[in-house]
Amino acid sequence: MTGVLAGRTAVVTGASRGTGLAIALALAAEGARVGLLARPGPHLDSAASRLGAAGLPLPADLCDPAAVRAAFALVHSEFGGLDILVNNAAMAEPHLVEEATDAELAREVGTNLLGPLYTTREAVPLLRASRSPHLVNLSSESSADPFPYLLVYAATKAALERLTEGLAHELRPDGIRCTLLKVGRTETTFKDAWDPERLRRAVLAWEEGGFRARVSGSAAQPPERVAEAVLFAVTREGGSVIGELSVRSYPDEFLERQP
Ligand SMILES: NC(=O)c1ccc[n+]([C@@H]2O[C@H](COP(=O)([O-])OP(=O)(O)OC[C@H]3O[C@@H](n4cnc5c(N)ncnc54)[C@H](OP(=O)(O)O)[C@@H]3O)[C@@H](O)[C@H]2O)c1
Repeated sequence: MTGVLAGRTAVVTGASRGTGLAIALALAAEGARVGLLARPGPHLDSAASRLGAAGLPLPADLCDPAAVRAAFALVHSEFGGLDILVNNAAMAEPHLVEEATDAELAREVGTNLLGPLYTTREAVPLLRASRSPHLVNLSSESSADPFPYLLVYAATKAALERLTEGLAHELRPDGIRCTLLKVGRTETTFKDAWDPERLRRAVLAWEEGGFRARVSGSAAQPPERVAEAVLFAVTREGGSVIGELSVRSYPDEFLERQP
């Protein structure tokens, strides 16, 4: 296999669909072998068939540390090491804090914050042995602008950002480069399972609070744009690291002005 990542290995969480699948395809197109971590099911099966021989399905729920440990044991035995970890998976469910169930809070914090901690904990010993190790954590522009009904999501992303900054220092002696990638609205399956009644109330709150106006007019970007940013970060060489990067859609009115 040719490409700038030929001979390298990666794990992408949430690689069964949306942005994670686009990232996995982009890494594989450059020659990497990619572990696709997501919950077992038809999405993961279909992603694995798209990657073919370049993909290694890693069926695991990020909320389950034992399943994450087993996934990285498989990475070790199948790949013999790991060069790149992309913590991409996340979820949100619109709700007021007071109405969230125990299960919802556990799933949001488990997927978005504990999950990346579990994967990073398992990946670091493998990354340490790599000649060119890299950790990429995906956050959201909304971490700094917590919309009502999405506070828990924003809080988990804000925590992930602080964690990434800290990891950059903690892992520096091991030569592990850390990149925080902040993402704007993207065309994915992120909202597909949102409860319509809660979404209706959330939209009302966003309109009343002036939150909706802040995102109107900017189209969602294709997930391939986010994948390009990941590829850019992990293929830098030499004495610098892309510590932080953000990728968002370019407003339609500016596109119209271009020749
Ligand atoms: N879409 C946006 O507008 C937007 C904006 C800003 C930031 N982001 C960020 O971009 C990243 C990717 O989001 P996306 O829009 O691509 O989301 P998405 O389309 O909903 O995909 C989420 C992925 O995460 C996996 N996942 C969810 N819960 C999981 C769990 N408990 N264990 C293992 N895997 C799990 C899903 O796989 P299974 O369901 O098959 O397990 C799926 O592959 C996230 O970090 C998100 O916060 C997205």
